[in-house]
Amino acid sequence: MSETATLILDGAEHRLPIVKGTAGERAIDVSRLRELAGCITLDEGYVNTGSCQSAITFVDGEKGVLRYRGIPIEQLAKHSTFVETCWLLIYGELPTREQLKCWSALFTKYEMIHEGLYHHFDGFPATGHPMAILSAMINAMSCYEPDLMEMEGPAIFQAAAARLISRLRTIAAASYKTSIGQPIIYPKPHLDYCSNFLHMMFSIPFADYEPEPDVVDALQLILILHADHEQNCSTSTVRMVASSGANMFASCAAGVCALWGPLHGGANAAVVEMLQYIHDNNIDPADYVARVKDKDSSLRLMGFGHRVYKTYDPRATLLKERADQLLARLKRVDPLLEIAKRLEDIALNDPYFRERRLYPNVDFYSGVILRAIGIPVNMFTVIFAMGRMPGWIANWKEVRDSQSALYRPRQIYMGPTERDYVPIEQRGDGGCLAP
Ligand code: SDX
Repeated sequence: MSETATLILDGAEHRLPIVKGTAGERAIDVSRLRELAGCITLDEGYVNTGSCQSAITFVDGEKGVLRYRGIPIEQLAKHSTFVETCWLLIYGELPTREQLKCWSALFTKYEMIHEGLYHHFDGFPATGHPMAILSAMINAMSCYEPDLMEMEGPAIFQAAAARLISRLRTIAAASYKTSIGQPIIYPKPHLDYCSNFLHMMFSIPFADYEPEPDVVDALQLILILHADHEQNCSTSTVRMVASSGANMFASCAAGVCALWGPLHGGANAAVVEMLQYIHDNNIDPADYVARVKDKDSSLRLMGFGHRVYKTYDPRATLLKERADQLLARLKRVDPLLEIAKRLEDIALNDPYFRERRLYPNVDFYSGVILRAIGIPVNMFTVIFAMGRMPGWIANWKEVRDSQSALYRPRQIYMGPTERDYVPIEQRGDGGCLAP
């Protein structure tokens, strides 16, 4: 007999099935609740609500565990590459030698974008936000790939996935070059994923950028660590859009928009802006933490806290180590790293943060590494999106393969009860707010 939960409502008992995950998590299946008990659940922000059953990524927020298809993130960070991790997330197993060879070859084959797409960059102002451009260009790219819109069959899907992941870096680099008034640099087929991106970002027509191996490795780590993270805001957005039957490009473009927010993927830029503000204004980190704790201030310690991790984010551990290592290898000192470490030390010894179980998350140290690589702050979240793309595609595929129902939550209506239409002459004289 499978485990059940009993709900008693209006004197009636309702038995609801318990769903148990492979890692032992349990959920009360309320999919028939409205039919059985005439009511729905309400959970603002989905703090306690599972939207799906997924086999892609497992997070244990209490223990600080993160596994992609069962493999601990620490092992992937040590042994894998971003291209290999993309295959693992999308197909569920590490690729064979042959699979990795042809998957990498697809990334090379598809690294260029249609020449017509480059004209779109002329239409964006130099001050256009790179996340707006990225989202727009993903959908624009799909206009040149009509064969990928229907997604019939595994071969078409694989081509679409490789094109999207490979070309995302080409689009990101082109938007950067356009924004600084430099000529766009084309990809080079002999370069690996990360080296090619750095080449497109920092080479100039008469001087190729030769990245230090440590810089390439650091970018590779950033992309692997950002590749997926169960049902975060942007991945849930991708699944929501995918559930309507929308194509992969539209779903992932929506994911870029959700990721943009400062409470989510935009936090990596917000962390560096926070550290820079503290540095430029010579603020004692202890004073800044005191301001954050002041209930009258809307300040948050960006890069701290997480909806799921109630302990140290395992990605932050790896990123903190790599930030130290990269700066040492480059023989550089970044005062922002020292400020970040000081803030962490103060916060982790402060009851406000300990009681709320607020620890550094993936965004707290990633920006220091991106700065050392030379990525401008307004592109930090673009790098996050580049890393997250395989996770979004894997979730898009899982929604498609499972023939998931359309995601359509219910609500509890709190608006006016029924009332009559009022003729305009009886409506008073309030005006508009906009200038
Ligand atoms: C990512 O979901 C994912 O997996 C996301 C991600 C991924 O890989 O996709 O891991 C990537 O988005 C990481 C998070 C990046 N965001 C930030 O660093 C922004 C700063 N952090 C927060 O705003 C906050 O911690 C959230 C949004 C991340 C999580 O917030 P919750 O779970 O909704 O918790 P909450 O806002 O209800 O806060 C609970 C309490 C509140 O205090 P009280 O009302 O109880 O007095 O904790 C406080 C909050 O004020 N709090 C903070 C804080 N985060 C929470 N106080 C100060 N600084 C903070 N950073």
